[in-house]
Amino acid sequence: MGEIPVIKAALLGAGTVGGGVFEILSRQREEMPRKLGAYVEITKVLVRNKGKERPGMDSSLFTEDWKEILADREIQIVIELMGGIEPAKTYILEALRSGRHVVTANKDLLADYGRELLDTAQEHGCDLMFEAAVAGGIPIIRPLKQCLAANHITEVMGIVNGTTNYILTRMTEDRMEFSEALALASKLGYAEADPTADVEGYDAGRKVAIMASIAFNSRVTFGDVFTEGITKITAADIAYADELNMVIKLLGVAKNAGDGIEAGVYPMLIPREHPLASVQDAFNAVFIHGDAVDDAMFLGRGAGRFPTGSAAAGDIFEVVRNIRAGSTGKIGCTCYKNLRVKPADEASHRYFLRLQVEDRPGVLAGIASVFGNNNVSIAQVIQKNKHGEFAELAVITEQVLERHFKDSLLVLGEMSMIKEISTILRVYA
Ligand code: NAP
Ligand code: HSE
Repeated sequence: MGEIPVIKAALLGAGTVGGGVFEILSRQREEMPRKLGAYVEITKVLVRNKGKERPGMDSSLFTEDWKEILADREIQIVIELMGGIEPAKTYILEALRSGRHVVTANKDLLADYGRELLDTAQEHGCDLMFEAAVAGGIPIIRPLKQCLAANHITEVMGIVNGTTNYILTRMTEDRMEFSEALALASKLGYAEADPTADVEGYDAGRKVAIMASIAFNSRVTFGDVFTEGITKITAADIAYADELNMVIKLLGVAKNAGDGIEAGVYPMLIPREHPLASVQDAFNAVFIHGDAVDDAMFLGRGAGRFPTGSAAAGDIFEVVRNIRAGSTGKIGCTCYKNLRVKPADEASHRYFLRLQVEDRPGVLAGIASVFGNNNVSIAQVIQKNKHGEFAELAVITEQVLERHFKDSLLVLGEMSMIKEISTILRVYA
């Protein structure tokens, strides 16, 4: 065997994921010649503060100057793990325009600027890989782009945010209220210092946009995805779900409905026997339906230093193999269709509604007639928990247009016989 070639790479960011990737590559070094026919070596690391101690990383690698990396012609791969839109976007575009291949985990960037980045990569014959951007360590981008490429995919959905799944699991298993479960998620390092993107569904919405674009071969951006978070879910809702033999999960759902794409993130009731109901704690799971493969589900850790690092390191290996084979840039943007993304009002769902109503004859009939007048068909009504002159009603509808359901709510909200609409949830059908 002759001398083993060395492919040089730069890491932008040495935080949770960047540090994980660095360590995984170190662990893999010995096997690289047999796996890749080359070594991949990180020769520069961009950080904000190069004086900070980073165990396992030699301080001579650090720079605070992107231009130094850009000017180093020996660097063939740029691994962007800083996060955020700028300066990450500029750095990635500059890297691609200078012929460097890019690996990133940056979902915020891809969900808004995926087309521009992928088009730039294609223009310059470069790889742009982003397996780590969706569902951490779970392989989902490459399966969609490659293994499942011979399908017409009609649905991609799942639990794609670990923080909220952890919170909902604690609320379900330990009967915690939302605030208590969030505090625990923060203590364990699942939730970010600012957990807004997680609990409001924005993080999941970005992942849905990326998955839907690839699954349906048509661009979906974050702005196209309806998002509703879990901050209003109470212990009472969880208890109700339990009585119905269901659980509440924050689901990202994208469907190619024939007349357009539906894409949203919602807390949903799902039956306990559904495979997603048993996905606990910070785990993620993605479920796909295609015309050839039928149903397929992927499960694993959706975040963290090594799971996310695993996905990014796998991408780096793939780029190295492509460089060695002279086949970089072979899979660019796969959004060759231009499908309409439906506004949320045109999507249809089953709904669960919990209301506090006056306990007297005619109330149920009054509510039923409002739904009937607005084309909302009722599937189930449960009455329980009398509190003085008020009773609690739970209504589950058939699959109805969101617009029709909202029209009903406007009327119900004005009726004096209804004291309060406590909860509105979608039901996974
Ligand atoms: P992190 O721990 O906050 O690390 C960010 C790193 O980037 C730090 O080393 C920081 O430098 C560096 N950095 C940030 N802005 C910079 C700038 N303007 N110039 C130079 N360096 C800069 O972030 P992370 O959790 O590893 O996340 C990285 C990316 O992975 C994000 O896109 C995130 O969405 C994605 N991701 C993360 C996870 C996860 O589990 N954490 C999962 C999936 C995807 P200093 O150390 O000097 O501050
Ligand atoms: N904050 C995300 C989660 C991890 O909780 O799943 C990064 O994608």
